[in-house]
Amino acid sequence: MNLDDLVALAKSRGLFWPAAEIYGGSAGFYDYGHVGALLKKRFENVWTSYFVDQGDNYYILDAAHILPEKPLIASGHAALFNDILIQCTKCKTYFRADVLLSELGVKVSEGATAAQIDELIEKEHVKCPKCKGAMAKTKPFNMMFDVYLGPERSEKGYLRPETAQSVYLNFFREFNILRKKLPMGLALIGKAYRNEISPRQGLYRMRELTQAELQIFFDPETWDFDLGKVSDRKLNVFFYEAKDAQRITVKEIVERHKVPKFYAYHMALIDIFYTDILKIPESKFRFFEKGGDSKAFYNKLHMDIEVDVESWGGFKEVGGLHYRTDYDLKSHSKGSNQDLSVNMNGRKFMPNVLELSFGVDRNVWMLVDLHFEKSEDRTVLKLPAYLAPFSAGVFPLQHDENIERVAQSIHKRLRTEFKVEYDDAGSIGRRYARMDEIGTPFCITVDFDTVEKSSPNHETVTVRFRDEKKQERVKISDLNQFLYGHVHHDSSKSHPSFM
Ligand code: GLY
Repeated sequence: MNLDDLVALAKSRGLFWPAAEIYGGSAGFYDYGHVGALLKKRFENVWTSYFVDQGDNYYILDAAHILPEKPLIASGHAALFNDILIQCTKCKTYFRADVLLSELGVKVSEGATAAQIDELIEKEHVKCPKCKGAMAKTKPFNMMFDVYLGPERSEKGYLRPETAQSVYLNFFREFNILRKKLPMGLALIGKAYRNEISPRQGLYRMRELTQAELQIFFDPETWDFDLGKVSDRKLNVFFYEAKDAQRITVKEIVERHKVPKFYAYHMALIDIFYTDILKIPESKFRFFEKGGDSKAFYNKLHMDIEVDVESWGGFKEVGGLHYRTDYDLKSHSKGSNQDLSVNMNGRKFMPNVLELSFGVDRNVWMLVDLHFEKSEDRTVLKLPAYLAPFSAGVFPLQHDENIERVAQSIHKRLRTEFKVEYDDAGSIGRRYARMDEIGTPFCITVDFDTVEKSSPNHETVTVRFRDEKKQERVKISDLNQFLYGHVHHDSSKSHPSFM
């Protein structure tokens, strides 16, 4: 789907648009409308039921968005969570240096250092794209938002730059409450804040974003995996050293590339989530290994989760799988003067962390892009039924007292269990079209036969299927069961632990 179509659909159909839009908006901030908020919630729900609810000893936390300064000094974010900033000496415009270079067609390696970028700027005679002025030397730019607390604003804090830190700060208490077992999974879905230099591409680079992150704490000496059925699953992986994408089995990832089994297993877990649950074609999904300076400072092994999204111009990061080792717990032990190591399996050690990190907004955008279909006669968002914001539309065929009474009572009954939309405005064709555009999988129409006692179709309704456009008569008394059967999602069916 192209960017303009996506933006237009999102604005006109209740998905999302710039925050404070009536004042001209503010770059990097977005609001979700009633349809987008539902879609986001659906993504969060399938994510939770697959990654958290199927795990043994895995739970969801919720935590403060504002953190004191100390933990973020300890975690390394105060010193290292930087982008490289560059300014035009003439018109004073700021740019993110790596983005500027790639937009000007200068090849810049992922994670290039400030010195390498300065060198490239000189060598390629890079000038300001706005005024052709000379560029100043680059400088690091910390992406955290600082906040000043209290009546004199004397206490410095930060809006959290990732939800992960909130989990690490609660690790020790939860470990004790949860009866000291490893692995232990603690997930958090919530906001993170980054002062992006150049927010862009809709929900891609935002200053306030929602993350869904799962931190798995484990003993690195005992966490082993029988790869079982996922062993022969083929994944698309772009290895840092190979500099090329390959289709490779999980077993080969472990044997040839020396990737730990626990890591390769979670690559398969994520691959299944995208291809089986979110229904992303295998060819549009891959892992992209980060190496050298492009690896986040806390990671030993780092793969981005990427999807090929037309409106973003190709493969783009929608999440990451990060082996953070004991980096964070060690840092917080030191920073807080509290020993966060554990005593088990006959040893005292610092648990290691495997992080599964997802940008919720990016995934929402990606779902709209990839499931959108436009043909000559209609526009359809072909989301899987369990991801669709509304499960059904309920329509009275005509303005008729009896038909409307029955349609309203069906709507009232269904809405206690499902998200259903009542629509009596305009032609039936127009109402179908509105539902197609937001991905509603079923439209339920009450007509004269429904209310006509002598009709063989008395007390039945027409159910129209979004994708096939076929229609079926369904008894009113069977509607709840019918919808449940189609829109309920059981994530254990896809989960490798049930294979
Ligand atoms: N927690 C990892 C990230 O924010 O990318």
